[in-house]
Amino acid sequence: MPAEIVGLGTAVPPYVLTNADLEQLVDTNDQWITERTGIKERRIAGRDDSTGSLGRQAAERALAVAGVDAADVDLLIVVTASPDHPLPSASCILQLELGLNRCAAMDVIAGCAGFVYGLATASQFVESGAAETALVVGTETLSRITDYTDRTTCILFGDGAGAAVLRRGERGVRAFSLGSDGTRSRLLFTPAGGTRFPATAQTVLDRRHYIVMEGKEVFKGAVTAMAASSLEAIERSGLVPEDIDLVVPHQANQRIIEATARRLKVPMGNVVMNIARYGNTSAASIPIAIAEAWEQGQIRPGQRLLLTAFGAGLAWGSLVLDWTLEPPAMPSPEEPTSPALPIVRGLIDGSLWAGMDMRPMPARDSEVSDEIAESAK
Ligand code: ACO
Repeated sequence: MPAEIVGLGTAVPPYVLTNADLEQLVDTNDQWITERTGIKERRIAGRDDSTGSLGRQAAERALAVAGVDAADVDLLIVVTASPDHPLPSASCILQLELGLNRCAAMDVIAGCAGFVYGLATASQFVESGAAETALVVGTETLSRITDYTDRTTCILFGDGAGAAVLRRGERGVRAFSLGSDGTRSRLLFTPAGGTRFPATAQTVLDRRHYIVMEGKEVFKGAVTAMAASSLEAIERSGLVPEDIDLVVPHQANQRIIEATARRLKVPMGNVVMNIARYGNTSAASIPIAIAEAWEQGQIRPGQRLLLTAFGAGLAWGSLVLDWTLEPPAMPSPEEPTSPALPIVRGLIDGSLWAGMDMRPMPARDSEVSDEIAESAK
């Protein structure tokens, strides 16, 4: 029996960074950003938000929709390009925050293709019976690794999280196709801060801890790989392109989405797009787009969905699934927003972190740890 999505949840920070705000930071303008990317605004994490906290909110909402107790999750996969810490894994931090008892927890890193990779991985555990309930969380605070003095990247990225709960069902994930090309890893990467070039005073001065990208090359690679892997996933699922009701692409750039749809011969009316409001949220973009379309009734039970994504690595993936989850009785209410510009100014000069407690880990949960120690005796 296939893995079925039985719950969905999202979380976006309330702070909005508009194109007009970016005009105050770098030499750009609303018209250029809108025409070249389709993005009008993006969400930025506040000082107290983190990849972990956004992931927790999305996961809690997804578990509530599924009617699943956190204690029943036996596999947690976190997909992110912006983990809270280099060590331990983002999934272990989320496991602690969610109070998931000793479940298997792992990170999947595949840039913007991460959610498709994570969903594909979780579906195999669930389908094989190796896990009964899997939770896949795509969560990002890309604002923390974005250089707001670099106009070629800072206009693109935003923060947010989306989560899905998977269980075995009659219908669900049909097939997927995943791929990568490490020869193009330098097209989109963070030069320093890993173990190859650890942080030094000089790497910080040179602003080497942020995403750098050869946008044009990434653009071309995205369209080719998303279209090819989509066709492969559709074929593996035993369907033909005309059988797909709705495409949910990674929200990287409106022109990439339109070019991919043209190659797949899919009308734009059958493509989910919310890039104007959130920008590129990497591993969170597909679950946020699915959840919004589902809440608004654009995704309905009985439809066949194609998810397709592409990003740093370079890595790409597409996945075909039968949708079964009934839309909620009422869409979530619009939450109030506030300007993100002061936060971004604080990111540029570092003042956002003034006086912050830099303890590397949340407080030890002695109850859980003692219980584990007891059971290990
Ligand atoms: N405002 C105004 N002008 C700009 C800006 C800006 N923000 N950025 C670049 N320009 C200028 C350039 O300097 C260039 O000027 P020149 O012709 O005088 O040299 C001109 O605009 C054209 O620049 P291009 O880079 O050729 O613009 P392009 O149309 O390729 O758009 C963009 C750039 C939006 C970055 C596009 O290439 C893109 O979206 N690439 C893919 C990004 C992506 O999807 N990444 C994948 C996932 S990310 C992940 O995995 C974490």
